Amino acid sequence: MYFCSVGKIVSVQKAVEILKNGGLVAIPTETVYGLAANALNEDAVQNIFKSKGRPSNNPLILHFNDWEDAEPFVQNVPEDFHKLYRKFSPGPISYLLPKSALVSEKISAKNTTVAIRFPAHPVAKALLKELNFPLAAPSANPSGYISPTQSFHVIQQLGDKIDGVVEGGECTKGIESTIVGWDEEGRVVIYRNGTITAKEIGDVLRKEVRVLTGEHKKIVAPGMLSKHYSPKKPTYITANVNQKIHYFSEKKIGIIWQIKPDETMFDNCINLSFSENGDLKTIAKNLYSTMYQMDNLDVDIILIEKCLEGDLGLAIADRLSRAGINLDI
Ligand code: TXA
Ligand code: MG
Repeated sequence: MYFCSVGKIVSVQKAVEILKNGGLVAIPTETVYGLAANALNEDAVQNIFKSKGRPSNNPLILHFNDWEDAEPFVQNVPEDFHKLYRKFSPGPISYLLPKSALVSEKISAKNTTVAIRFPAHPVAKALLKELNFPLAAPSANPSGYISPTQSFHVIQQLGDKIDGVVEGGECTKGIESTIVGWDEEGRVVIYRNGTITAKEIGDVLRKEVRVLTGEHKKIVAPGMLSKHYSPKKPTYITANVNQKIHYFSEKKIGIIWQIKPDETMFDNCINLSFSENGDLKTIAKNLYSTMYQMDNLDVDIILIEKCLEGDLGLAIADRLSRAGINLDI
């Protein structure tokens, strides 16, 4: 499975050259791998949508090395932003801000806002420092599929559609950045949960933070629709695997547990787990890679144990709810 990966791997220097020439390069970030292009090159940006099969009304995040680079691309920036930037950037958080005229309609999908992010991954930073333009980068997966957290995930999914992948090891956070923005009244809103939690953001700002998820979320883009980030195999989510497993008695079942079971209860199934001990950071880090691994094993269906909610658990539960059908409602 790893052999085919080698040919597509490029150095940071080569990636700089490809990006300057309008090509597409997958880059590591601490959250997930991104599919990057020069955000100021309309054709390159168009190719992101094409290679992912992404609907054109789903906007892209702009990636910068630091605030100095980002400032010309946004306007009317609230003081809250600077407080959050000082605390969490570079890191796994994206800020939704009013865009300036430098941001094309393709990037923002005709919204008046643009999402900006400052990745902390040393490879992403090294690359951004070499460029005099921002990188537009959605997660480097075909639209609707789970996000890649290792280079071979990208190569297997999009290898023939892109010009290279920069190796950066396994992503340490494992799920996409928290997206924070401000509504018309200046109130803080979280549009996507990530590893930086609503509580952490509220603590910095000493303000109430609204989380717009599930039914309460106004759909501003298809990426926020409920079915997204799913394996190819039919996938089901339940808090009680033991009770629900008989639904699938005729099938080859792959079970993903939150915590590795002491002994294998279902040894006629393939069993994987997100963690050894239930540590939420570990579960987030392994979430997509474990689903990816199971999706490529010889199973008919995937049954995933739901995680407990609360703080980081909310971001994990959100991704799981999008990965498959909830058997508990
Ligand atoms: O961690 C991450 O954020 C990764 C890495 C590569 O940086 N990127 C990522 O991008 O997850 P993407 O495109 O897969 O998800 C971005 C989400 C989409 O759901 C999109 O709809 C939303 O952000 N978004 C981007 N710009 C927006 C805007 N102006 N208004 C509303 N939603 C926006
Ligand atoms: Mg994505």
